[in-house]
Amino acid sequence: MISPTPEQLQIYLDIATEAAMTAGAVLQTYWGNLEEIQEKGRQGDLVTIADKAAEEEIIKVLKRHFPHHAILAEESGIIGNKNSEYIWAIDPLDGTTNYAHQYPFYAVSIGLLIEDVPYVGVIFAPFDNELFRAAKGQGATRNRRPIQVSKTSELSKSLLVTGFAYDRRETPDNNYAEFCYLTHLTQGVRRSGAASLDLAYVACGRLDGYWERGLSPWDIAAGVVLVEEAGGKVTAYERTPLQIRSGRILATNGHIHDSLSKELLRVPPLSSWGNTAV
Ligand code: IPD
Ligand code: CA
Ligand code: CA
Repeated sequence: MISPTPEQLQIYLDIATEAAMTAGAVLQTYWGNLEEIQEKGRQGDLVTIADKAAEEEIIKVLKRHFPHHAILAEESGIIGNKNSEYIWAIDPLDGTTNYAHQYPFYAVSIGLLIEDVPYVGVIFAPFDNELFRAAKGQGATRNRRPIQVSKTSELSKSLLVTGFAYDRRETPDNNYAEFCYLTHLTQGVRRSGAASLDLAYVACGRLDGYWERGLSPWDIAAGVVLVEEAGGKVTAYERTPLQIRSGRILATNGHIHDSLSKELLRVPPLSSWGNTAV
């Protein structure tokens, strides 16, 4: 088992920060200036010149500093040393749909997986200049100040967030029933459109919990470290250890974790609801 030293983690964190800020600047230059927005295959799954240009910059920085590591990038796939235990999972533009519509909620997300476990995370939101950083064992920060998860302990008093994967039109496992059910049980469920920021917002206590299915490692690698280092909990829906490639995640402040997990596992199908509240 690899165990990086705190000094090594600090270096990874600083280089990831450099890459995220550079990519963030690229996203800002294209903001409102997109000539072409393409669909990647599935309806609604967009890619723009901004995604590609930002990703190029991140890859350049990471390759320069860590030529022996692998990179798993949303638009380029796996590149570099495919046998490496170190994989940078990068989403150059998380929240592409928001960005394409000039809805200002998007981020650059860069996470480092070591033997498939998230160790380092940097999420940069250029629209309001928020920089979230965390490394295993070293705490989490927002704009260089320590952050912590919320103290909310009852599901009925919580504010949650979720999202819907691009395959939602093709699968009955589309998260719609979960969204409605948990909207009844809580103070609300947001759908913000950027998984990385959803996790960062749980980490800094603005939100109490987050769940989603159909995700990729680049959506969540960075955010997982943030939530854990801010005192929260991240697992699979069943409270078993998170598998970063499973696509499913449950991340909370820790206090509502068990109750949210239990409710998620007993969501009644939408068709059984009729007009009555659950
Ligand atoms: C998407 C966003 C969204 C989530 C989707 C992701 P993208 O990433 O994070 O919040 O619900 O599942 O694919 O396409 O904007 O990078
Ligand atoms: Ca994403
Ligand atoms: Ca993306």
